[in-house]
Amino acid sequence: MPGLTAPSDYSQEPPRHPALLINSTAPFNAEPHRSDLISSYVTPADFFYKRNHGPIPIVDDIERYSVSVTGLIGNPKELYMKDIWKLPKYTVTATLQCAGNRRTAMSKTLKVKGVGWDISAIGNAVWGGAKLADVLELIGINKPSQITPSGGKHVEFISIDKCKEENGGPYKASIPLSQATNPEADVLLAYEMNGEPLNRDHGYPLRVIVPGVIGARSVKWLDSINILAEECQGFFMQRDYKMFPPSVNWDNINWSTRRPQMDFPVQSAICSLEDVNVVKPGKITIKGYAVSGGGRGIERVDVSVDGGKTWMEASRFQKAGVPYTSDDASSDKWAWVLFKVEADIPMSAEIVAKAVDTAANVQPEDVEVIWNLRGILNTSWHRVHVRVGHSSM
Ligand code: MTE
Repeated sequence: MPGLTAPSDYSQEPPRHPALLINSTAPFNAEPHRSDLISSYVTPADFFYKRNHGPIPIVDDIERYSVSVTGLIGNPKELYMKDIWKLPKYTVTATLQCAGNRRTAMSKTLKVKGVGWDISAIGNAVWGGAKLADVLELIGINKPSQITPSGGKHVEFISIDKCKEENGGPYKASIPLSQATNPEADVLLAYEMNGEPLNRDHGYPLRVIVPGVIGARSVKWLDSINILAEECQGFFMQRDYKMFPPSVNWDNINWSTRRPQMDFPVQSAICSLEDVNVVKPGKITIKGYAVSGGGRGIERVDVSVDGGKTWMEASRFQKAGVPYTSDDASSDKWAWVLFKVEADIPMSAEIVAKAVDTAANVQPEDVEVIWNLRGILNTSWHRVHVRVGHSSM
């Protein structure tokens, strides 16, 4: 692709914040400390988790960079950044969550395959860019559309990074045309993150943002868009990021029996405490995040200091001074809420958080019931342990 190149090794990686916890260096996968994650509603780019499958691409000439749009449409087209910048700019506050968030905890039940993540493979950013629905309209696809006249039903996004899972080929994924052409779905071709141009780690110069859907579909370093009759056949759609039942193992797995995971389920985690803590006597403040996929708001966050026998309702907030009400016009529907509760704790306590979304979906109590061999979507009740002692953390 003119203007954008993909290195085949890791010698030209961008600088990263030293406070990140590194889960793998090549490819670079890292997350912030729990406490850093919830220090603000909008996650600064430096502290936003980084999830890569290959070396980070480099823009050598932004003037020459273009996205080719091909497939089941009338005329293929090259779109340059100037074409994208000309379209109305939207800002969407959306939480991106890797399907592998909280995988390390799932592995404690029985080892799962994949990069280990604590609870911070998630972040909330203000994404700026053009709506994909407007971009597709430029090439003659109406909004909304279920199918193009030539039979296109899926929109595939192809990058240029060299991924070993694709035998050195690029990362790719697709979403249904109906979602891509629905302006209400807020799918963006984003060129900004938190008011700044995207940085290299997060997809400079252009990435897809699919709000409410696992991060795997938000393809970075966009190179081409392909309109397809079937969903993308790439590795990350067909042989990864699918949710299997606990009975499936590496001997009996049949990938074609499951659909690629799209929306993520309701999730929450306590970020103000580590897994095991020694705290001073007195009240303790318990803080964390809660989020649901598909644009569903957070109805409630319940916190327990006795391992789930009794519960308190936590206060929830997005923006300072604006009370959070799920599904209200003042609330960011694709974004997390931060929660907070103060509690007296016994000498030794298991503190638990669980969230409920607007469809009354609740996180499952135990990780065992949702264990799956790829270790995705660990949304079980988040539990941490606290002991009252003389030294505090
Ligand atoms: N896009 C490309 N081109 N290559 C990738 O490795 N990783 C995906 C997605 N888009 C990936 C990609 C995954 S699994 C996630 S969770 C998000 O990007 C992570 O985005 P971030 O690194 O900006 O947080």
